[in-house]
Amino acid sequence: MATTKRHDVKDLALAPEGVRRIVWADRQMPVLQSIRDRFEREQPLAGYRVAACLHVTTETANLMRTLKAGGADVVLCASNPLSTQDDVAAALVDEFDISCFAIKGEDNETYYQHIEAAVDHKPHLTMDDGADVIGVLHSARREQLGEIIAGTEETTTGVIRLKAMEADGALAFPVIAVNEAKTKHLFDNRYGTGQSTIDGIIRATNVLLAGKRFVVAGYGWVGRGVALRARGMGAHVIVTEVDPMRALEALMDGYEVLPMAQAAKIGDIFCTATGDKHVIAREHVEVMKDGSILANTGHFNVEIDIPAIRALAEETREARQFVEEFTMSDGRRIYLLAEGRLVNISAAEGHPAIVMDMSFANQSLAAEYAVQNAGTLERKVYPVPQAIDEEIARLKLATMGIDIDQLTEEQAKYLASWDEGT
Ligand SMILES: NC(=O)c1ccc[n+]([C@@H]2O[C@H](COP(=O)([O-])OP(=O)(O)OC[C@H]3O[C@@H](n4cnc5c(N)ncnc54)[C@H](O)[C@@H]3O)[C@@H](O)[C@H]2O)c1
Repeated sequence: MATTKRHDVKDLALAPEGVRRIVWADRQMPVLQSIRDRFEREQPLAGYRVAACLHVTTETANLMRTLKAGGADVVLCASNPLSTQDDVAAALVDEFDISCFAIKGEDNETYYQHIEAAVDHKPHLTMDDGADVIGVLHSARREQLGEIIAGTEETTTGVIRLKAMEADGALAFPVIAVNEAKTKHLFDNRYGTGQSTIDGIIRATNVLLAGKRFVVAGYGWVGRGVALRARGMGAHVIVTEVDPMRALEALMDGYEVLPMAQAAKIGDIFCTATGDKHVIAREHVEVMKDGSILANTGHFNVEIDIPAIRALAEETREARQFVEEFTMSDGRRIYLLAEGRLVNISAAEGHPAIVMDMSFANQSLAAEYAVQNAGTLERKVYPVPQAIDEEIARLKLATMGIDIDQLTEEQAKYLASWDEGT
């Protein structure tokens, strides 16, 4: 169809393949589907403009369809230069008549131009994965701040930034931290990223994980998912941490725990998952073995000190797609995957739809909640209300055909009492 929507995508001719894949993902997203059906009837977002900055994947497309069904006027831009699926971007514009600005591999300048294009949409609601739209609104577009009712934030790194803004009194509108919902981080960060990160590493390199020393930096929700799946593939997993509690958990979950300075000398594959900077630094790369593979699955491409690797290398070449080979002066070769960007979304397809079903159910219901409570929310970071979180878990179980027990009256009374002992 001929679109009237503003867009900048790679090629609209890719749309038919995008539609096929979006529909495929939708089959795995029954909770979001049920929300879309209700939104269509109730139109809770009618009259609201939404600027979303998310990974442009099949699952995100289904979220955009849901917001549109609810009456919203939506624009989508990429939240990472490498994560866009070009066929999906084309399908959004050409088939679903949704504005989209995203091209896989876009340079930094285009990336920010696309965010500006989304902000040009004059949104009432923002939807971020890494707080980039909120960042632009709070710097270059301050005049638009008064028009924003609220925002939502998808990921840990974004939530950390927003909480820092709130603490500084800099946050100009309320934001709902979707990442904090249990039905988000317990599943998306852990199982979604766990599986898709391993998938990205394997697709990029075709390495066998069995028998390898696999170093996971960070034992948060993402790190523990990656560690679990790497172990499942037969790797010997080493965890590095800075938090004693999490290091202890990793140890008692059965992993070897080492400082990076030691892990660097023995690891075969490294994956950062910390949300922190320069977790793999120059001194670590200097002692790594020939053939070491480095990947990142944390939000930004700063976890590995890539400029330091470039400075150390005598020669650089693309060894295969998404694999850059750095040859050091002593002949060692170090391989960096997907330019140090989120390997699961850059070199593979990101999280399976069945997991994103819950994350994006949270996004949809958080947007509805924000609109309904526009008058009462303050300039703070809010969690997703517990009732929404629990409803999503209940719906998810139901769509998976899983029944659970209910408390009996006697049990409910017992659990609420303090006077009944042995
Ligand atoms: N790839 C994806 O699709 C995806 C999905 C969800 C989240 N994320 C991102 O992954 C990152 C981690 O998210 P999370 O939910 O696991 O966060 P988290 O806060 O639960 O865990 C991060 C862990 O890293 C540890 N850490 C911090 N600095 C470290 C260092 N220098 N060395 C070793 N460990 C260190 C922290 O102590 C913490 O335990 C964030 O950037 C988040 O935005 C990516």
